[in-house]
Amino acid sequence: MSSRISLRRAASVADYRQLARRRLPNIFFEYIDGGSYAEHTLRRNVSDLEAISLRQRVMLHDMSALDMGVETFGQKLSMPVILAPVGMAGMFARRGEVQGARAAAAAGLPFCLSTVGICSVEEVARAAPPPWFQLYVIKDRGYMRELLKRAKAAGSPVLLLTVDLPVPGARYRDVRSGFRGLTGLPAFINQTWDGLTHPAWLWDVWLHGRPHILGSVAGALTGRKSVTDFLAWITGNFDRSMTWKDLEWIRAEWDGPIVIKGVLDPEDARSARAAGAQGIVVSNHGGRQLDGVRSPISALPGIVDALGGDLEVFVDSGVRSGLDVLKAVALGAKACLIGRAWVYALGAGGQPAVARMLETLRAELEVAMILTGCQAVRRAGPHLLDLGPDA
Ligand SMILES: Cc1cc2nc3c(=O)[nH]c(=O)nc-3n(C[C@H](O)[C@H](O)[C@H](O)COP(=O)(O)O)c2cc1C
Repeated sequence: MSSRISLRRAASVADYRQLARRRLPNIFFEYIDGGSYAEHTLRRNVSDLEAISLRQRVMLHDMSALDMGVETFGQKLSMPVILAPVGMAGMFARRGEVQGARAAAAAGLPFCLSTVGICSVEEVARAAPPPWFQLYVIKDRGYMRELLKRAKAAGSPVLLLTVDLPVPGARYRDVRSGFRGLTGLPAFINQTWDGLTHPAWLWDVWLHGRPHILGSVAGALTGRKSVTDFLAWITGNFDRSMTWKDLEWIRAEWDGPIVIKGVLDPEDARSARAAGAQGIVVSNHGGRQLDGVRSPISALPGIVDALGGDLEVFVDSGVRSGLDVLKAVALGAKACLIGRAWVYALGAGGQPAVARMLETLRAELEVAMILTGCQAVRRAGPHLLDLGPDA
């Protein structure tokens, strides 16, 4: 299958994955595609979504006009999808974060910019509507404050605070590909060969996509310039000391909505609410952190119950189709974040491919809504799911 797919014929997220695998250097494809440890959770994220059955209902209503829109934090989304923060997207396509943000805006969807994006928050905000800004908890609190100020000044409407990365999970694939662990001449040879054997990427990103720095955190580093230097800096700066109390000073610096990303337990969801967050992302970081934890989609109903409608609840990890989007919304999410889905497309063909992939999700969602009798996605609920013979 993989050898015949062309960009024009890509029909699904899986197709964009194959195209990205062909076009990107191995170190970057494996970085995107991989999970942590033996990748049990990575697989579970996808298979748990697959295992949920939609409930087919026919001729219930006039389905000629569908409403796929949802509203969150005063923003209208054309469908319940948000582009998740993905580090280093500018290494997968020239100024990748700008391309992703433009595709999202054209589709009427929010774009979340990672702390470790190649493009800075200012660069993205100049090229597209100001992105939602994702912040990692790093030891240098002064720098966190500075980042919050910059995101605010750039007009970012929502802050996503990622709390499931006090320490990075082990990613075996990054070691095997040589992305991590190699230094000096072996690293240089590995990366040069990887680049030279992917000429389309070399031309687009390596030659014309500079500077290759982590735009928003560049100011915190002096003298170090390569992406690997940046990665080493950020890896050494994740903070294990953060507690719910720290949300107080973040709140003092940020007057907009705060969404806590990386919640997987109802108790933590309640703590997020008590600490004053306005929303959470039920997430296991796309299976990239603690292997063996449950999938967010399986945790979602319990968390929605625990919160009783007080916070905006989003979900991510494993969403690969518009059918998955409807399942997540039916289980109580306001919207899904998609990570790999948009960066596979970005790596495969930049902004036009991201735009087409989003259209594919929309078309899939439309079919799923029509065949479950769901006229308005904001009224989706468990009644759209087939929960077993006795349901
Ligand atoms: C290559 C890659 C880089 C990521 N970088 C970040 C990041 O910088 N900040 C963050 O909060 N989450 C990051 N994530 C996690 C995503 O925001 C999201 O939670 C995850 O991708 C969802 O799972 P999915 O890829 O199965 O859709 C990253 C994910 C991937 C695949």
